[in-house]
Amino acid sequence: MPDEPVLDVRNLSVSFTRRSLIPGRRRTSLVVDDVDLTVHKGRTLGLVGESGSGKSTTAKAIVRLVDAQAGEVRLNGVDLLSLRGEALKRARRSVQMVFQDPYSSLDPTMTITECIAEPLTVHRIGDRASRVTAVLDLLDQVGLPRSMADLMPSQLSGGQRQRVAIARAICLHPDLVLCDEPVSALDVSTQNRILQMLTDLRASHGISFVLISHNLAAVQQLADDVAVMYCGTIVERGPAQVVTADPKHPYTRALVSAVPYPDPEVQRTRTRVVLTGDPANPADRPPGCVFQGRCPEVMPVCRSVVPRLADDGTGRSIACHLYEPAPAPQSAPQAQPHNGAGPVRKLRPDTAGKGR
Ligand SMILES: Nc1ncnc2c1ncn2[C@@H]1O[C@H](COP(=O)(O)OP(=O)(O)OP(=O)(O)O)[C@@H](O)[C@H]1O
Ligand code: SF4
Ligand SMILES: [Mg+2]
Repeated sequence: MPDEPVLDVRNLSVSFTRRSLIPGRRRTSLVVDDVDLTVHKGRTLGLVGESGSGKSTTAKAIVRLVDAQAGEVRLNGVDLLSLRGEALKRARRSVQMVFQDPYSSLDPTMTITECIAEPLTVHRIGDRASRVTAVLDLLDQVGLPRSMADLMPSQLSGGQRQRVAIARAICLHPDLVLCDEPVSALDVSTQNRILQMLTDLRASHGISFVLISHNLAAVQQLADDVAVMYCGTIVERGPAQVVTADPKHPYTRALVSAVPYPDPEVQRTRTRVVLTGDPANPADRPPGCVFQGRCPEVMPVCRSVVPRLADDGTGRSIACHLYEPAPAPQSAPQAQPHNGAGPVRKLRPDTAGKGR
């Protein structure tokens, strides 16, 4: 019996409503659509997808910085979305978020000590002396000299500020840290050092991470599992090695093909899948598969039937009509859309879905 997951997100949906240009009308965008995610203790889930796919909104809904319209966010078995007041404040200690921009995520008027200790102050943990001791210890853990404790954020580089943001995120000993593009504003060598530091913190503290990035290569380095998001929907998820070595969903295949391979000989033999067309608009989602407008393998069925995530038998799930559930022995025919149960098999694009 596997351990209970640290994070178990079920059917999470978030939509935003804006005023339309037409007076009196409103436009609703379904930005996160029925998302399921699971993170186990000490593991890292990489959440990848291009700009606007809903990664940050998913993370913000998990930590309740935006309201979800539907779903459950279970943290150690407790649904965060159902908590209020003191219970929510207590639960929030266990889940922290690190944002992309190290220049705006720290209060410029606070010293580094005050920035890192702020969550301890807010939750009234310890006295001033014990907080200072905790900050010095955290500076050691994130590889910053203790002499930086009295500096202001403006005196630090981008990489140093991101280390401060991470120290602040781990100061309450959370079970889960969601890092939203934590290295994309940094140069490549700093990116690698920060990712290595997250790996070390995971090993030493047993923290679980959700690592959000539009860059699959950055996620590959750290993630045990990967979930690929397109227009608010998880289109493929599974063990990182399985998904990146043998991507199945046409969108994941395009993402993986864009990651440069370290060996130039191998790189020369690889084919880059270049997607044409614009990303789907969450305010104007097509019926059927959200990826149909850019999919090189689109079939008639894709225009009308929403593909559901289905397990391929290796712990990986794919939401694509190319991979239909294999019929169960002597069972009745599957209904469409299928319910995601059972292993999947690949259909030939030229025959799959014909006549539907
Ligand atoms: N507060 C908001 N009000 C209205 N629409 C929003 C709001 N926040 C995000 N959106 C829209 O939701 C969609 C998803 O945005 P989100 O920031 O979650 O994407 P993302 O995958 O994190 O993108 P990026 O890689 O650029 O950070 C976008 O279309 C965005 O315009
Ligand atoms: S369901 Fe159809 S359009 Fe969507 S990814 Fe699969 S083949 Fe392409
Ligand atoms: Mg984002």
